[in-house]
Amino acid sequence: MSEPLILGIETSCDETSAAVLRGERTVLGHVILSQDAHRVYGGVVPEIASRAHLQVIDDVADGALREAGVALRDLDAIAATAGPGLIGALHVGLAWSKAAAFGLGIPLVPVHHMEAHLFATSLDDARAAPPFVALLVSGGHTMLLWVPAWGEYELLGETRDDAAGEAFDKVARILGLGYPGGPAIQRAAELGDPEAYAFPRPMLTSRQQPSDDDYYDVSFSGLKTSVLTRVQALTADSRLEAETANVAASFQAAAVDVLASKTMRAVAETGCARVVLGGGVAASRALKAAIAAALPAEGELYAPSLRHATDNAAMIARAGLFHLQRGVRAPLDVAARADLPFPGLHRRAGVSC
Ligand code: KG4
Ligand code: ZN
Repeated sequence: MSEPLILGIETSCDETSAAVLRGERTVLGHVILSQDAHRVYGGVVPEIASRAHLQVIDDVADGALREAGVALRDLDAIAATAGPGLIGALHVGLAWSKAAAFGLGIPLVPVHHMEAHLFATSLDDARAAPPFVALLVSGGHTMLLWVPAWGEYELLGETRDDAAGEAFDKVARILGLGYPGGPAIQRAAELGDPEAYAFPRPMLTSRQQPSDDDYYDVSFSGLKTSVLTRVQALTADSRLEAETANVAASFQAAAVDVLASKTMRAVAETGCARVVLGGGVAASRALKAAIAAALPAEGELYAPSLRHATDNAAMIARAGLFHLQRGVRAPLDVAARADLPFPGLHRRAGVSC
C-alpha cells in the first residue's frame, strides 16, 4: 500500500489550520489562518475563537485539499486535535472531522496537541527522531521531556505557574508591545542590552540536585513580577520608553537562561545530546542560540521551522499518522477535552540514552 494520505485539522486556540500529509514528511497542502480579532483584547477570547473557527473551517480545509491537488475521497484518514485547548474551539475542529470521517467512511484519529508539537520538528528534519530530550514551550504549556521512542514520554519537569509563551505575552503587555508577545519581545530585545537589568532566574540555583522536586521545573511568575516592578519604577521616572529595549532584552535573557539551563540538565542526566524543540517559543532565536552554545560539539539541536513552531495542522496529521499506524481509531462519540491527558506520558522514572 502506498503511504497514507491524512488530512490534519487544528482548532485548539486561535489558528484554524488544515494540512494534507503524505507519509511521514510530505506536506502536500497546508493552510494556517491566524485569527486577528483577538489583537485588540491583548489575548485570545475563547468565544470569539470558536465563532471564527466555525466561519472558516470549511474554506481552510478546502484550501489545503486544493493546494494538495487531492479530493476528500482520496484521503485514508482524518486526524484532529481533541485537546488540550479551548473547549469551544476544539469542538469545532473535532465535530467537523467526525462528520467528514463518518461521511467518507474513513478512520478518525484524535490527537493530543502537545504530542503533535513534539512531532512538528520531524516534518522539517527526519533526524529530529527519538531518542531525544524535548523542550516543549508554547503559549499554554512548558514541558521538559525525555523521549526514548515515539509514544514513550517521561516528564522531567514542567512549569509551576505560567507557561513560557504566556510569560512572554504578559511581559509584552506590561511593556505595551502588543500581542503575541514573543515576537514583539524578540524584536525589541535586538536593540537592548541583555545585561542591563539583573532579573531573577526562578528555580535555578547551582545547589539543586537531580533528585530535587524543582531540579527540572520552571516558574515564571516571579520573573514577571520583577519586570512589572521595574517597569512601574521606570514609568514613575518617565524613563520607560528609553529603557523598553533593555527591559525586553534582560527579560528574554532571564527566561532563556532558565529554559536552556534546565534543558542542559536533562542532557547531562540522560547522556543524550540530541535536543528537539517544539511550540511557539521554539521560534525564539535567543533560545536556540543559548542551547546551541551550551551543547557539546557532537550535540544536535533541532528546532521547528517558523511554520511548524506555532500552531499548525501538519503536525496534527503527523502525530495522527503515528497513532493511525498503531491502530488508534476514535469512536464517533469521541469528545474534545480541554484537559486531555498526554498519551504515553509518565512522570520521570529512570532516564538514559
Ligand atoms: O505553540 P503556540 O503557537 O500556541 C500554543 O499552543 O499555545 O505558541 C504561541 C506562543 C505565544 O505565547 C508567543 O508569544 C510565543 O509562542 N512565541 C514566542 C516567539 N514566537 C512565538 N516566544 C518567544 N520568542 C519568540 N520569537
Ligand atoms: Zn500549540
